[in-house]
Amino acid sequence: MTFTPRNPLPASAAEAVSQALQGVLVTLIDLSLVAKQAHWNVFGPQFLSVHEKLDEVVLNARDGLDVVAERMVQLGSPPDGRAATVAATSPLKAYPERFESVSSTLGAVSERLLQAAGAIRAAIAVAGEHDPLTEDQLIALAQPIEEQLWMFEAMAAAE
Ligand SMILES: [Fe+2]
Repeated sequence: MTFTPRNPLPASAAEAVSQALQGVLVTLIDLSLVAKQAHWNVFGPQFLSVHEKLDEVVLNARDGLDVVAERMVQLGSPPDGRAATVAATSPLKAYPERFESVSSTLGAVSERLLQAAGAIRAAIAVAGEHDPLTEDQLIALAQPIEEQLWMFEAMAAAE
């Protein structure tokens, strides 16, 4: 049996948008994993506020990746959120494996939020050419990530 969801978008547009969404999907899965890794391994002064803020990044990314994957299905493409696919295609730099100080955590997470925001903006540009509904969903996703980027940058900034 095959499943072919119908959608008003022309097939070529749906394919282009789905490819862009697949890139956002692996980015958000990886961001959710990075933020959990950071949440567990951060230590030092202001530990608690950073530890808690990182879980907001996890929850936001998890909410967003589900929207993205389900939009792909609506456009007729099976989302690929498998670990091997994420590892091979995520644009985010690998996260350190050890305990990290608050300051290095803030820097490392900021860098990856910036990479994620850039990846989503690239997908917004593709969606904008073909599909305002997906474009709107991606814009909504990008906003809290850029807000979190600002907050991590502000927490990391030297006085
Ligand atoms: Fe926790």
